[in-house]
Amino acid sequence: MNNTCLDFRNLTLGYQGHAAVHHLSGDVQRGSLTAVVGANGSGKSTLLKGIAGILRPINGACVPGFRRIAYLAQQSELDRTFPARVINLVSLGYWHKRGLLGRLTPADKIRLSACLDAVGLTGFEKRPLDSLSGGQMQRALFARTMLQDADLIRLDEPFNAVDARTIADLILVIKGWVSEGRTVLCVLHDHALVREHFAQTLLMARKPVAWGATSDVMTSENLSMARSFQEAWDEQAGWCEEDAGQGGHTHGHDHITHLPHHRKVAGHV
Ligand SMILES: Nc1ncnc2c1ncn2[C@@H]1O[C@H](COP(=O)(O)OP(=O)(O)OP(=O)(O)O)[C@@H](O)[C@H]1O
Ligand SMILES: [Mg+2]
Repeated sequence: MNNTCLDFRNLTLGYQGHAAVHHLSGDVQRGSLTAVVGANGSGKSTLLKGIAGILRPINGACVPGFRRIAYLAQQSELDRTFPARVINLVSLGYWHKRGLLGRLTPADKIRLSACLDAVGLTGFEKRPLDSLSGGQMQRALFARTMLQDADLIRLDEPFNAVDARTIADLILVIKGWVSEGRTVLCVLHDHALVREHFAQTLLMARKPVAWGATSDVMTSENLSMARSFQEAWDEQAGWCEEDAGQGGHTHGHDHITHLPHHRKVAGHV
């Protein structure tokens, strides 16, 4: 049986004539837990959006091997002033089953309560969203994600401005998803968390700098390579014309994509 959840084939994504993710090749296995790491602007959110097809590839492809996909957006993209209650937000996780106005069945309500309980929000059902703390909001978003019953879950910086106890609780939720066979991709900046909890890491600097087992990827050499690529990036640079064959397709997780030496990414692409 094919165990591939995502297959990147020389994928390039970007906006208005600028590449934000260059030439990504490789695959993500079903049931794996991968951290996506890199500096601000290194293409992490762009990649998560590209996986869902929100952004059309400029080059190459992302071949999906999943049935249903879930997305927890970066906090800065969320509107907390929307006049809704916790239960309204969490119920959106049933969208795939009930649509916007569909009534919840008794079984749906029991499951919803169980999810609120799992994230420590029992009793918060009627609370307006704008009254929640940052950590409580993240817990509610995790409960919504649980209800989505997705086999690929994308989390964009879910632990920003969240305290250690909430992080520990939400990491348990993530590990529960993985133990159920779901695939998780999680963007985060906290390297200690990555090393402690994530088996796989993709280190981005618009290009993949390294990808594979976290202990192999999160080396000082790779991290400094990623920093130097980022520093060399030129926002005004032109379009990417790198040889489409150069980022050749690779399989499995034992490969590590090292970029050979420091170079001005945007200059030659
Ligand atoms: N909608 C957009 N239109 C034009 N450019 C964009 C758009 N979204 C992102 N970019 C640009 O693409 C590049 C990668 O952005 P992206 O949001 O993927 O970075 P990131 O790694 O998620 O950064 P951060 O850690 O700050 O969230 C940046 O230079 C950014 O300015
Ligand atoms: Mg981002």
